[in-house]
Amino acid sequence: MTNKMWGGRFQSGPDAIMEEINASIGFDKRLFRQDIAGSKAHAAMLAKQGIISKADARQIRKGLDQVQAEIEAGRFTFSRALEDIHLNIESRLKSMIGAAAGRLHTARSRNDQVALDFRLYVRDTIDHLDGQLKDLQLALSEKAETHAATVMPGFTHLQVAQPVTFGHHLLAYVEMLARDRARLADARRRMNENPLGAAALAGTSFAIDRQMTTRDLGFDRPTRNSLDTVADRDFVLETLSACAICATHLSRFAEEIVIWSTSQFRFVKLSDKFTTGSSIMPQKRNPDAAELVRAKPGRIIGALVALLTIMKGLPLTYSKDMQEDKEPAFDAFDSLSLAIAATTGMVKDMTPDAAEMRKAAASGFSTATDLADWLVQKLKMPFRDAHHVTGRLVAMAEKSAVDLADLPLETMQSIEPRITKDVYKVLSVESSVASRRSFGGTAPTNVQREARRWLKTLRA
Ligand code: ARG
Repeated sequence: MTNKMWGGRFQSGPDAIMEEINASIGFDKRLFRQDIAGSKAHAAMLAKQGIISKADARQIRKGLDQVQAEIEAGRFTFSRALEDIHLNIESRLKSMIGAAAGRLHTARSRNDQVALDFRLYVRDTIDHLDGQLKDLQLALSEKAETHAATVMPGFTHLQVAQPVTFGHHLLAYVEMLARDRARLADARRRMNENPLGAAALAGTSFAIDRQMTTRDLGFDRPTRNSLDTVADRDFVLETLSACAICATHLSRFAEEIVIWSTSQFRFVKLSDKFTTGSSIMPQKRNPDAAELVRAKPGRIIGALVALLTIMKGLPLTYSKDMQEDKEPAFDAFDSLSLAIAATTGMVKDMTPDAAEMRKAAASGFSTATDLADWLVQKLKMPFRDAHHVTGRLVAMAEKSAVDLADLPLETMQSIEPRITKDVYKVLSVESSVASRRSFGGTAPTNVQREARRWLKTLRA
């Protein structure tokens, strides 16, 4: 059966199909700033080396500034027939300045040009994401300082395990984000090499100065092998991989926000800035923003897998396959940036309910480990025996449906006669968290110190 809608689109035959599959202008137009910056640096270098005249270089620079102004003002007409951003800009330049425009592409190919543009774009993206991640770390650290002593249950297997503090929990994410930033910084360091001058794949016979464009464009050094230079997309893969891990962290936090704001948990409240009502159930407040942050790794991990799959098995050097690197990467970067912004907004917006969290922290015999530790410290019991005695006491508390702290002393002594009333001191959630002063532990004094340390570093 013929499909009218799709059939109609290709009516004009092979030329139209080729244009449609070949063109990248629809998405690579967002590289215009990087493309223009690269062309200006290239033209300046060509003039300095005497490959083009100073007058031509000046015209090229002025023309490129004008093209940039037109694009920024939305006055530029992009043409699909001109395939991509590189040819669109060059063609407009030609209509402005004539013959000199044709000299710009001397000693250059679109292969090193696109490698340059995309590197510059990814580098800018990393800087942008890094700033956003820092803001999120700040928001988390500020909340953590406020809630250094706010007790909440710590979970393993999503079962109440031991009391911790809300501040300690938030600082766990500050650590994750620090690793995310370090991974992005590492990718940036490795990618910061200038591809310009590799030309199509073999280098060029013109006496270019790659050190000059390297300096002008803020790179650390020129790339060392022209074949590798035009065939390489590691810089995108590494960045996407760092983005995928970061998105995974954000999705874990988002899931916690979803859980915490249920009526079963009630640990935190989000205002209607980050929630929506239901069109039919008036009582509902749905954590949509958190759910969407939870979902974003779908497309971000997808982008990483897409590009790995595109690059896998590609023979050296450039193949048009590599044009497929951009759409998923742009989408992943945009999605992550939005997810970070939404998470930062939610952190600032959320109000923890200290009473609910404390109540939950005291449930599930969460101080059983404190009891066992007391038996070890005060009665010199081997930990394994203490674990066994505590297990029996928990069973008794469970049977009479009371907390450990509410078990009468005589009941405790029926299991272990040497237990004294001193034990009750360690059974409260407050004393439990206060006692965990080991380095990296949840004691409020530790958490406050860590939050302040982070704030100082982040504000520096
Ligand atoms: N639009 C192309 C891309 O994104 C630019 C490079 C084209 N090079 C070529 N030899 N056709 O990869």
